[in-house]
Amino acid sequence: MRKKIVAGNWKMNTTLQEGVALAQGLKEALAGKKVNCDVVVCTPFISVASVVEAVKGSVIGVGAENCADHDKGAYTGEVSASMVASTGAKYVILGHSERRQYYGETNEMLTTKVGLALENGLTPIFCVGEVKEERENGTFKAVIEGQMKALYGLSKEDFSKLVIAYEPVWAIGTGLTATSDQAEEVHAFIRESIAKVYGKEVAEETSILYGGSCKGSNAPELFAQPDIDGGLIGGAALKVDTFMPIIEAWK
Ligand code: PGA
Repeated sequence: MRKKIVAGNWKMNTTLQEGVALAQGLKEALAGKKVNCDVVVCTPFISVASVVEAVKGSVIGVGAENCADHDKGAYTGEVSASMVASTGAKYVILGHSERRQYYGETNEMLTTKVGLALENGLTPIFCVGEVKEERENGTFKAVIEGQMKALYGLSKEDFSKLVIAYEPVWAIGTGLTATSDQAEEVHAFIRESIAKVYGKEVAEETSILYGGSCKGSNAPELFAQPDIDGGLIGGAALKVDTFMPIIEAWK
């Protein structure tokens, strides 16, 4: 059975102290509770190591929001996958639409980043999704298929280690959520695409998360869809009170 996952993406919103406090608050809120999904928080690089420490002894997994497309060397300001892994973090978000849009990340770069993340034992949470215009002009499936192609050079074994996140760009931070039907349509499409390349078994085992204004009020309906295996949560992951109901949507 594929994993159910609720992952927070804090983006560039937390100082070190705020991040540690948020992680501690989440750890306390989860203590003693029956949790029916994997819980992950992806934090700014500056707090990854401290958050790993803060959540020790809890079910919370920790990740970064990006990593470099090089292994090591003279790349001032960059943070490599091996550095992320050295903190004890287990996940890394790759290909988030904000990275593609504002930092020019291409499929080619993302193929390299995914490879480096896997080599260093990290689980990539690989994001795909269309912009509003592509939704409206009906090219969204082709766009998503094109983004998925960045992964299709991987061996079956490596591909099986990935988590995919479908995040329609028009729904991120806008308060507009894809309806559960719209999201399910794309999730099922992604699963079919994976099945064509790696076979049905791998496709059935791949966790595909939804992201884009997911919150406590819409999570139950989204998560009830057969191909939605959890969420990648931005705004609502910044407070324990808004993140917990999404985790608890997995009954
Ligand atoms: P949002 O962000 O939940 O604030 O819409 C989701 C994301 O970008 O990962």
